[in-house]
Amino acid sequence: MSIRNSPEHDPQTVKIWIIDPDRADEAEIKNTAMIPSVVSLLLLKNPIQHVFYMTSPEKPYGDKNVSLCLPTGSRMSIVWDACTPHRALLLSDKGTFITKNAFLTYEEIKVDPGELLMPAEGYYVVSDAVLLENGSIFHIGDALFWRDNEEGILRRNPMKLLVEGVKGLSFRTQCADYYPLLGSELATVLAWTDHELYKGGRALDWKTNSSYMSNILSLPQTTTILTAAFGSHLASLGALVMDTDSVQPSLLICYETEGIWKTRTLLSTNGLQGPFQMLFISAALETLLVWNKDTMLYSFHNDSEWRYLRIMDSSNISQEASGSHIHHVVMDRSRNMLVKMENNVLFFCKFGMNKLFRLPTWNDPGRSVVLYINQKEQIIMLTMLDGGLHVQKYPLKMEIRSAMRGEVHSCPFIGFTHNMNKPAYYIDKEEVIEFWAQIVYHEGKNMNVTLSRNKDHVLQITEKTHFESVRYLDTTNKTFTIYQDPDYRDTTNNSDLIIKDIRNSSDIVTMELLPTQIDNSCNLPKNQISHFFVGCPPNRHIRVIKPQRIPCKMHVFDSYTIPGFVLGNSSKDLTVFYDWKSFGCVLRIHYKDEFQPDIELYDGETFVRSVDANFIVWENFHRKDYYFNMTMHEAACLHEAQTWTSMLVDEKRPEEAWGPNNYRSCFVDNSEKLGNLDQPYEIMNRSSMNYLTFSRENSAIYVFNVKIVDPNYSFCDLHAVFAVQTYGIPELDQLLPLYMLLSQSIISLIILCISFYGYTSIYRDMLQKKCV
Ligand SMILES: *[C@@H]1O[C@H](CO)[C@@H](O)[C@H](O)[C@H]1NC(C)=O
Ligand SMILES: *[C@@H]1O[C@H](CO)[C@@H](O)[C@H](O)[C@H]1NC(C)=O
Ligand SMILES: *[C@@H]1O[C@H](CO)[C@@H](O)[C@H](O)[C@H]1NC(C)=O
Ligand SMILES: *[C@@H]1O[C@H](CO)[C@@H](O)[C@H](O)[C@H]1NC(C)=O
Repeated sequence: MSIRNSPEHDPQTVKIWIIDPDRADEAEIKNTAMIPSVVSLLLLKNPIQHVFYMTSPEKPYGDKNVSLCLPTGSRMSIVWDACTPHRALLLSDKGTFITKNAFLTYEEIKVDPGELLMPAEGYYVVSDAVLLENGSIFHIGDALFWRDNEEGILRRNPMKLLVEGVKGLSFRTQCADYYPLLGSELATVLAWTDHELYKGGRALDWKTNSSYMSNILSLPQTTTILTAAFGSHLASLGALVMDTDSVQPSLLICYETEGIWKTRTLLSTNGLQGPFQMLFISAALETLLVWNKDTMLYSFHNDSEWRYLRIMDSSNISQEASGSHIHHVVMDRSRNMLVKMENNVLFFCKFGMNKLFRLPTWNDPGRSVVLYINQKEQIIMLTMLDGGLHVQKYPLKMEIRSAMRGEVHSCPFIGFTHNMNKPAYYIDKEEVIEFWAQIVYHEGKNMNVTLSRNKDHVLQITEKTHFESVRYLDTTNKTFTIYQDPDYRDTTNNSDLIIKDIRNSSDIVTMELLPTQIDNSCNLPKNQISHFFVGCPPNRHIRVIKPQRIPCKMHVFDSYTIPGFVLGNSSKDLTVFYDWKSFGCVLRIHYKDEFQPDIELYDGETFVRSVDANFIVWENFHRKDYYFNMTMHEAACLHEAQTWTSMLVDEKRPEEAWGPNNYRSCFVDNSEKLGNLDQPYEIMNRSSMNYLTFSRENSAIYVFNVKIVDPNYSFCDLHAVFAVQTYGIPELDQLLPLYMLLSQSIISLIILCISFYGYTSIYRDMLQKKCV
């Protein structure tokens, strides 16, 4: 099987099913069927789906191919793509290996030195690497180098990558693909020198002049960057820095989307000696692990709470592992955390617990081992042996169970479930999202569920708790209602400007659901985090419904002429070439009928709801011969309402003249002057009795723009187009034959009458003569 033109990181879905050759469909026999036939479906209850990963082999190398190795004797290290974890790069002192299928196969990647000097060792000594979509970045010496997947040439360019003073390189650890950020891309790579931090994207274009890395932080010479990493929130970044005159590091945190760095003193690191490493845990409030070679601690909830990880009663992990140092840490989405020591001793804890416990030993202390989490969230143990890489699935659950035997571990709850299971939710104005979280526990344990979030003022949350106790089991089911409160007032700064800002600016709030207590033996759902995007949901738009009773015709004319006297902006006739693609079909409406457009809200092709908000219409070519059948008085306005005449001052275009930004309701008493309420009311909505009426003099074609003007309805700019063609007015040229027919008949009738009179008088004369 071969699939062409598919990028190598794109998974392909392959359907496999069993057929009975005697009863199979023709398409199944010919191997062209896309879905199983009914007979085949009966053969297997569930057609199996499996995702395969394409592995195009690395390009063959020329004569010059050079390995990339860690310094001799180093422990292996590994990086994998957070969005496509089956792609990984393994660094060892024997070479750098790449896999595109979670180590089912792997191969060494080498480089052509190109214009660079051949290294004296015969190979390049790398300290770190990251894997981009189209190549890899290597940290060699104090510079960054690029190796393109296509050519395999190692390159260096100060325009693209940092070439001096590089102290570290960091790779994104959480996939940001579903982050509801519209328009821009979040960083994938961080690199730092002593005093500067840079970021880079998911692909590097070597051919263009654009630079790949951009500076995001410059510190004074007295402050040094110790390490940097991607934050708990998908858009946040963190840097651990140290002032020369200080004894404890501080943490700088920044939302990439905002660009403002905030300092936080990491109290927890007081007295700890570097070098430090850190790993942020996906959470609503900054939560991270910081460790040096023998001590590890975590900081919760923006460092409001922090603890050392302990084994027995000691926080010196190294001591408990025969003096070996911490090699690396991995964590799956259910927050199972493994701390691997250089001598291959493994410790486990559920993140949030401060007690580590030792897992059974799997490998000799001298072996080079590294842990990797594949796309199925399985932990894979990779061991470098003389014959090559040994790939083994690590049965974490079983190992935890056997390690816990004999110890008292009991999860404070029996079950924890919730339905906040989408990575991203969208909340438009006036919209409400509801979800629940349920926790079941033994009577009297006093468990609960907490919902935390990173920004307090953007969304309002109301909670409802349902409690039930049946046979010593307590169940708490909490329902959360999330909405944007239009009447929100920032009590810290009671100014109108801020209120207005909150109402109209979009934002992203990250929320996290967790039980109030956990234990190492607890099972947690994979999804604790969701992003709530307050703003215009993607592809949200309005459509004008074409009523079934009204015929809507396509391509019935190419152009038409609007007489100058019905135009608002000129007196010359206007010939319009009708754009069927953008205006759509024309609704055929009798000239005496009233019409009110019925508007529906859609997200892409998905119907959301009917729109009941206020809207306005205007004719695209400035026709003025349409009217509204309700007056301001009939609409019960408290003062004169806005009209096109009042809004179109200063020769503004209709698109800009009137909209949600300047709409004022006439039903709100704002002590404006009463004005003339006998004017037509030009605002419509679904429930109002205000309808459009059309010209009684001419059959006409109207192209109407419709726009929602209610500022409280949506963050989106909601507008649409619909067209109307009226019929039924007897036109002059249609009447002409009728007139002619009529006048002819009248003339004939007169002639007939005259001749009849003539005839009767002759006849009378004759009769009179006879009688005499
Ligand atoms: C929790 O309560 C909500 C709302 O009352 C309900 O829809 C949901 O099904 C409940 N959850 C469970 C697990 O019963
Ligand atoms: C406008 O026309 C509609 C539709 O015929 C009608 O129901 C409504 O009563 C009219 N409104 C007024 C104010 O006459
Ligand atoms: C719809 O328009 C009527 C006046 O015709 C008004 O009284 C009503 O408040 C409007 N409804 C909405 C949802 O704005
Ligand atoms: C929008 O909502 C706010 C707050 O409820 C209200 O004060 C304002 O009058 C509303 N605007 C319109 C045009 O209805």
